[in-house]
Amino acid sequence: MRALVIGASGQVGAALLQALRARGHEATGTYAHHAVEGCWPLDITDARAVEHAIFFIKPDWIFCPAGLTHVDYCEEHPEEARAINRDGPLLAARMGQRLGAGFVYYSTEYVFDGTAGPYAEEDPARPLSEYGRSKWEGERAILAALPRALVVRTTVVYGPDSQEKNFVYQLIRNCRSGQGMRIPADQVSSPTYNADLAAASVECCEKDLRGVYHLAGDGVLDRHAFALLACRIFALDPSRLTAVTTADLAQKAPRPLRAGLSIAKARAALQTALRAPEAGLRAMRQALDGRPPGGDPVDRAEGLG
Ligand SMILES: NC(=O)c1ccc[n+]([C@@H]2O[C@H](COP(=O)([O-])OP(=O)(O)OC[C@H]3O[C@@H](n4cnc5c(N)ncnc54)[C@H](OP(=O)(O)O)[C@@H]3O)[C@@H](O)[C@H]2O)c1
Repeated sequence: MRALVIGASGQVGAALLQALRARGHEATGTYAHHAVEGCWPLDITDARAVEHAIFFIKPDWIFCPAGLTHVDYCEEHPEEARAINRDGPLLAARMGQRLGAGFVYYSTEYVFDGTAGPYAEEDPARPLSEYGRSKWEGERAILAALPRALVVRTTVVYGPDSQEKNFVYQLIRNCRSGQGMRIPADQVSSPTYNADLAAASVECCEKDLRGVYHLAGDGVLDRHAFALLACRIFALDPSRLTAVTTADLAQKAPRPLRAGLSIAKARAALQTALRAPEAGLRAMRQALDGRPPGGDPVDRAEGLG
């Protein structure tokens, strides 16, 4: 397939470019503020630029991990959140449809209220935050607008990432610099290894799947437990980590607490494995250490004391 990845400078988009090319597809990526060599600049809210890119590239599939992903920022900027998370992707989806392209929209477990997770695809959505609402509205608009639409919901994505923004990088930085970190022990979720998410997304398109799929790590655990697991895998000292409640953090946007995504539907449809956190963290460490897969970084790391 020929693919266009809008938002290839983010961690999911970069993993998508890699997965697409590794599976023999042609892929072009875009960035907004963080330039990436070989990628095109593109603001998804600029209709003419989006049209130009889509009509020039003529993709079979458009992957759209682009988004305003800072949940607390979205809470105070709901119009901007809707413009980037709902209206821009809808416009790109419609333009792609004029060429017959399929569209993959990336959404989140934050469409759920976190009272009864882990959630299946058909469970009723009730977003608590502006970010969650912008994504839920984006999902519905895109599914209603075109028949060849795939909505991928995911959560707590981690793994190698050139911007080093994700939770595991924050944890590594804080632990190595001896800084304390307060981590909620009441937010349950399904941490997702970015390379698995990308490979599974591409497989969905290869199989021409449509509708909503949950692509997330296998299993659920709370954020503090995930941090302790990451400390073990990366040989970090967890003594400065403090388990707190989400309420203690007083964040601007409410978070779904008992969340997580059930991946039974994806497991039945796909060959790509969606690793559980322990295996995903081991893969991340191997990738960061530049070691070929197959070694045992944990044992060696623990050996270092
Ligand atoms: N990461 C998670 O834990 C998680 C969880 C649930 C759902 N998701 C969803 O998965 C998708 C990908 O997440 P991610 O972790 O890769 O996010 P990310 O690292 O924050 O990347 C976001 C991407 O969107 C691009 N972007 C931002 N504003 C744009 C605009 N106006 N026009 C075009 N592109 C724009 C960014 O470009 P620049 O960096 O160049 O500005 C970047 O490439 C998002 O839609 C997110 O909502 C992520």
